[in-house]
Amino acid sequence: MNRVGLVYDKLTSDEEEIILEAERRGFQLRYLFVKNPVQAYLPSSKLIDLPVVFNRCESKRRALEAGRIIEDNGIPVVNPFKVEYLCADKIETLKLWFNNGINTPRWVYASFTGRDGFLDSEIEDIADEIEKLGYPIVVKPTMGSWGRGVVKIDDRCKLIEALRNSHPSPINPDGFFAQEYVEKPGFDLRILVGLKPRGDIKVLCGIARISPSPKEFRTNTHLGGIPLGLKLDENSKIVKEAVDAGKILLNGCKWGVIALDAMPDARGVDYSMIYRYVPECNNLFQQIRRLVEENKQYRYRSWKHLLEDAFLKYKSSEAYIKMEAIVHEILEFCKLKWHEANSRFDYAVNTRNASGFNPAKFYLDIAEDLAY
Ligand SMILES: Nc1ncnc2c1ncn2[C@@H]1O[C@H](COP(=O)(O)OP(=O)(O)O)[C@@H](O)[C@H]1O
Ligand SMILES: [Mg+2]
Repeated sequence: MNRVGLVYDKLTSDEEEIILEAERRGFQLRYLFVKNPVQAYLPSSKLIDLPVVFNRCESKRRALEAGRIIEDNGIPVVNPFKVEYLCADKIETLKLWFNNGINTPRWVYASFTGRDGFLDSEIEDIADEIEKLGYPIVVKPTMGSWGRGVVKIDDRCKLIEALRNSHPSPINPDGFFAQEYVEKPGFDLRILVGLKPRGDIKVLCGIARISPSPKEFRTNTHLGGIPLGLKLDENSKIVKEAVDAGKILLNGCKWGVIALDAMPDARGVDYSMIYRYVPECNNLFQQIRRLVEENKQYRYRSWKHLLEDAFLKYKSSEAYIKMEAIVHEILEFCKLKWHEANSRFDYAVNTRNASGFNPAKFYLDIAEDLAY
């Protein structure tokens, strides 16, 4: 019987999709729960005989530690440590992309100079440097996720305040990260790319995440972003760029699966019509949010069919279909700015249902390739 290990620090619907797919394909799954210190939870005895391990730690630090331990034991891990490392740090991702010709937002990164942040005497100089990006500016933690700590800054006064209040933290250990504000057409993109041991890098699926209000510039679904499946076969430009961006991060690896985020640059593009259908789509999507909320306490596999039915209803609504056409039309006119990659992405609720592709299948495809 094929075996696979699942390293996790929390079992969410995303891990449950992997478990279901493993069961469906007759894999024997070894559950490897970890917390801190990861080393104590992953002794070699627990990893022995595993042909492959899926590393699905939600905490980036734990994911990094687990990845290193698994590779040190000579066991293939999805994602490989190198990919985990690059994705964990937004600056690493951006530098690599920028140096390899991928279009990224402009950014300035200032390393903390003191133990607890910046010295007062340096703040004005650092602000001068960051201001060259032009206002508004977006400030964010280098290792953050779900939109935490991502803020827009409109003037020098707020920038100085942000610099003064910036201290090392687990999600932002080393410095101050400022980025040009990209005017998006009300949405951003999340594209999944994957590489199998016996295959080439491929785009698996993608979604647009639409902000429910022009006032909210963060499009994370955790913050209310509305997911919409992308018809990638109709947009070869996005596919090519995603493959290029993915190749750079997976370079030297034989397998991996990552979610790449890009912001369409909508300067000079009229995207006002997007907001015509947002309220209705948001209303319809509210039903899905409620369903997820009401069922949170129950095991995902017992209500996943309800979620799928709700998505089918949402996707067949007139507002969704109109929105789908608008998003694809707007994309024709926008250049993309690629800005982050996610090694442990969530997908079970939104990406899977909106796009119609289940990434859990790809995890198991990798495991099958590695098992033979
Ligand atoms: N430079 C930017 N310009 C415009 N919007 C941005 C910018 N950076 C981030 N955002 C918005 O904020 C969201 C969260 O920022 P992101 O960098 O992806 O952090 P996280 O890892 O927390 O998701 C993005 O999905 C995007 O919608
Ligand atoms: Mg993001």
